[in-house]
Amino acid sequence: MDSSESSQGRLPWIEKYRPKSFLDIMGNEENVSRLSIFAQEGNLPNIIIAGPPGVGKTTTILCVARHLLGTSFKEAVLELNASNDRGIDVVRNRIKMFAQQKVTLPAGRHKLIILDEADSMTESAQQALRRTMELYSHSTRFALACNSSEKIIEPIQSRSAMLRFNKLSDAQILAKLLNVCNLENVTSTPDGLEAVVFTAQGDMRQALNNLQSTARASEQCARRMCSRFAMSHIRCWWQTCWSTAHKPSWKRPPKSCCSCGKRDTHPKTSLPTHFGSANR
Ligand SMILES: Nc1ncnc2c1ncn2[C@@H]1O[C@H](COP(=O)(O)OP(=O)(O)OP(=O)(O)O)[C@@H](O)[C@H]1O
Ligand SMILES: [Mg+2]
Repeated sequence: MDSSESSQGRLPWIEKYRPKSFLDIMGNEENVSRLSIFAQEGNLPNIIIAGPPGVGKTTTILCVARHLLGTSFKEAVLELNASNDRGIDVVRNRIKMFAQQKVTLPAGRHKLIILDEADSMTESAQQALRRTMELYSHSTRFALACNSSEKIIEPIQSRSAMLRFNKLSDAQILAKLLNVCNLENVTSTPDGLEAVVFTAQGDMRQALNNLQSTARASEQCARRMCSRFAMSHIRCWWQTCWSTAHKPSWKRPPKSCCSCGKRDTHPKTSLPTHFGSANR
């Protein structure tokens, strides 16, 4: 295994399976397809993507940037997480300086400033941004992502195309979970997957995080106990716990945990607490 492969292995699944291509982005098809056309043809307008957490806003903007700017990505894209860099100084310094830098790009391509979580920028920072947007519109475009568009001042909204992303459907989340289970060799049950989909409530990030912590917890727990119990029974027990995870009594080990009938050989212990927190 080379170092990039092993670092891939250590990545959280939300990063490991973050779509790199528009085709892999689930849901919000109309908006994603509009952006993929801009990514191909260039002349991207300033955009604001608004919507609930974990539905692919940042992922989509990164796909646009990668497709639009290809090998120039490093020099032509400035990524700022506005919740850390939310003040006026960032607009005056980093954003302006980047906008002033000369980068040679093909026709129809512009430098791109990505402002993630833009709704946490202060009003004065947004006012300063409004002027910068206009001043450098010949060379620089802005892509803002936010949860609530009302927190973006009207003048910025009027200088941008607003794209609203919705929560993902259960079917879209399930399709991604099945795909990841397959790639990670995770054995799942329909009930277990249903519980993960249900708790995610349309948030793909939460679904993937819950899937990973469930799978990892299951593995660790199994390893600890495998000296005492046959692996196949532990797996049955865990899957039953998982499939009842959304019921109030799920933390107690089920009395009859699998169809194998060897109830007495199953561990009489409660689930690790981190499993519970992963299945809020
Ligand atoms: N539509 C999607 N299709 C496939 N995977 C997705 C999708 N949305 C989210 N994901 C997964 O969830 C992770 C987080 O997504 P992303 O960062 O794009 O969410 P976001 O909408 O920007 O959320 P936030 O509002 O919290 O910033 C991604 O890395 C990816 O693994
Ligand atoms: Mg985001």
